[in-house]
Amino acid sequence: MSELARWRERADVALQRALPDPHSPPQRLHAAMHHAVLLGGKRMRPLLVHAAGSAFGATADTLDAPAVAVELIHAYSLVHDDLPAMDDDALRRGQPTVHVAFDEATAILAGDALQSLAFEVLASTDANDATRVELLRTLAVASGAAGMCGGQALDLAATGNGSSLTVQQLERLHSLKTGALIRAAVRMGALCGGASTDDLERLDRYATALGLAFQVRDDILDIEGDSATLGKTAGKDVAQDKATFPALIGLDASRARLDELRGAMDDALAPLGERANALAALGRMAIERDR
Ligand code: IPE
Ligand code: IPE
Ligand code: MG
Ligand code: MG
Ligand code: MG
Repeated sequence: MSELARWRERADVALQRALPDPHSPPQRLHAAMHHAVLLGGKRMRPLLVHAAGSAFGATADTLDAPAVAVELIHAYSLVHDDLPAMDDDALRRGQPTVHVAFDEATAILAGDALQSLAFEVLASTDANDATRVELLRTLAVASGAAGMCGGQALDLAATGNGSSLTVQQLERLHSLKTGALIRAAVRMGALCGGASTDDLERLDRYATALGLAFQVRDDILDIEGDSATLGKTAGKDVAQDKATFPALIGLDASRARLDELRGAMDDALAPLGERANALAALGRMAIERDR
């Protein structure tokens, strides 16, 4: 089994273990949390935690907590992203969205509970005290108004008027709504491995390019992909006049931007040599993925 496949399986096991027992009350909330987390998903962010951490010698045991924590935040963000008040989506990871399978109030609470659980899990990492505090701070900043939530607010503000932003404003939006958690995943892994300030800075340049590339690819797939492969509704961005790269600069220029970002990732990782092979592979996956 490849390294990435092993880490993915490891993340699935750790996520399953972290979630509350679906047979214990409140069952409906617990079942919604299971639905949101365990039914599919590429586990990109846990893979980034393991790839960054193992590059600096962190053990997989130490990396389990940040890997689970960032995926729980990501899963919560998707549950809320799909709500009628946000993107109003009925399909996610090939399943009905949580508010469709359960109800809106349960979806809101499941998202809230997944967010809290993320920090509970992260606080239990076996990293030393100073690292643990820095992990908690990193994930908190990336999740909040200066990170994912802030980006979602900018996304909603531009919805219905998608081409009104400048490219610079759109990059800022993407770097918050998607980039922040991806950067946090890489940073948390590297922190667990005791990476130097210089290496943290290199990895942050890689993760910044990766985060933007990941969302540019997501925007392209909304146009070129089909719902069955994506596991989510294709064509939503155009229908809702979302601020996306293809809407602003067109498909060809969006693909060219992906190529630039591929180069930026390679440049950032080059000084790390072979240690960065898994990170480089994940960067390619982000750009070439079809779901
Ligand atoms: C979807 O993220 C939302 C974005 C930030 C683009 P993913 O494409 O990582 O979704 P899953 O986890 O594989 O379902
Ligand atoms: C990313 O944006 C969402 C989050 C930060 C949760 P999208 O709205 O484009 O994600 P999808 O396309 O619904 O997965
Ligand atoms: Mg959205
Ligand atoms: Mg959405
Ligand atoms: Mg999208």
